[in-house]
Amino acid sequence: MIEFRGVTKTYNAGQPAVEDLDLEIGEGEIVALVGTSGCGKTTTLKMVNRMVEPDRGEVRVQGKSVMEMDPISLRRSIGYVIQEIGLFPHWRVAANIEAVPKLLGWEAGRRMERRDALLRMVGLEPSAYASKYPDELSGGQRQRVGFARALAADPSILLMDEPFGALDPITRRRLRAELGSLCRQLKKTVLFVTHDPVEALLLGDRIAVMDAGRLCQVGTPRQIRGQPASELVRELMTIEAPA
Ligand SMILES: Nc1ncnc2c1ncn2[C@@H]1O[C@H](COP(=O)(O)OP(=O)(O)OP(=O)(O)O)[C@@H](O)[C@H]1O
Ligand SMILES: [Mg+2]
Repeated sequence: MIEFRGVTKTYNAGQPAVEDLDLEIGEGEIVALVGTSGCGKTTTLKMVNRMVEPDRGEVRVQGKSVMEMDPISLRRSIGYVIQEIGLFPHWRVAANIEAVPKLLGWEAGRRMERRDALLRMVGLEPSAYASKYPDELSGGQRQRVGFARALAADPSILLMDEPFGALDPITRRRLRAELGSLCRQLKKTVLFVTHDPVEALLLGDRIAVMDAGRLCQVGTPRQIRGQPASELVRELMTIEAPA
């Protein structure tokens, strides 16, 4: 479970990036975070693993304030997928994926088994890709390795920032379906950012819409589509048909 209680973050003196946020992501729930560029989505995500610390309010993970946890072990316990993936460039794909399990003391056999299963899940044949370096991969392949790395230590909480951005429609649909059923099956608690209404509607148990640092509506896909609280919500959730 992830809880935001009256959370505010202002970077420099000025408009808060996130203001008075109250939001709860229940155990095993998937919440999609949507909103226009700069509205505070990434900031919200980063406050969960303490990459950003709030000025006011409290963020709780599994019932405990993140400010009372060791930031390093907090981060190791949460899977984090970002668009600018952040793989270690001098480490092979295998080492990148095994990084957290290794830090957690998994023995080599278990790590390799897990790594290969994840590589297959994201559609990269281990024998061809495990020994490559990140710069030998395409952007979409790196993104898929990023997924595998985030899931490696089997975290119960996943944060994903536009995770399907650099993928072609086929890979995107496949990974989305795969990840969705994996998260449901394993009861992962997920907060993910997307600009794609289809993705939010398909994956989210609930959708949270932000505008200028404030949460303007939270609800099930049906509620958000059926009773959008504002014109902005309606527009953000409009699925564009080709002309
Ligand atoms: N490290 C930082 N220092 C100063 N201001 C920042 C920093 N990070 C974000 N901001 C500002 O805070 C606001 C919210 O940024 P944030 O990255 O959370 O937006 P976002 O909703 O993720 O946008 P996008 O959809 O473009 O990724 C923006 O106005 C941004 O300029
Ligand atoms: Mg962002």
